[in-house]
Amino acid sequence: MIYFITGNKNKYIEAKKIIKDIEMKHIPYPEIQADKLEDVAEFGEEYLKKQVNEKFFIEDSGIFIDALKNFPGVYSAYIFKTIGNEGILKLMEGIESRKARFESVIAFYDGSLHIFKGVCKGKISYNARGKGFGYDPIFIPDGSEKTFGEMSITEKNKYSHRGKAIRALSSLLAPL
Ligand code: IMP
Repeated sequence: MIYFITGNKNKYIEAKKIIKDIEMKHIPYPEIQADKLEDVAEFGEEYLKKQVNEKFFIEDSGIFIDALKNFPGVYSAYIFKTIGNEGILKLMEGIESRKARFESVIAFYDGSLHIFKGVCKGKISYNARGKGFGYDPIFIPDGSEKTFGEMSITEKNKYSHRGKAIRALSSLLAPL
């Protein structure tokens, strides 16, 4: 059994579709303010490895919008809580270049640290569509017309940053 340490049920449900042998555990850990998602994940992992006796991983993610010089990036959680999707769409008003990407970094600990990164390129929609969590309703991955919010979890996983990072972890766990 491997613990996915997170307070976000949606992230857990997405990961569980790909790796069956995981369990969600909510242990708060410090999320430092850093320039790179990797640094945030590594710091959290260092903190947690002293108190978790099983194999575990954490995940840190963010959305990076080209026209906004990669904002909100590492500030994605705070910006979502404050201005939300409506605020992002407002900032993007009149901007034609809609390119954006989601990034997901997983830090997995099994006695040593393993880092996996998944990137999903796409664009910001002109209006919010569908459900999902966080920025799902305003992000359209390349290769689709739908926002993440309009996709099933299985379909989102095919494209998503998290799907990619989780599949990379999965291939470490069960090498062919
Ligand atoms: P954190 O990784 O929990 O710090 O999340 C960063 C922010 O990005 C949060 O506001 C999440 O809701 C958002 N976010 C992360 N992954 C996704 C996703 O797959 N879809 C939509 N929003 C996401």
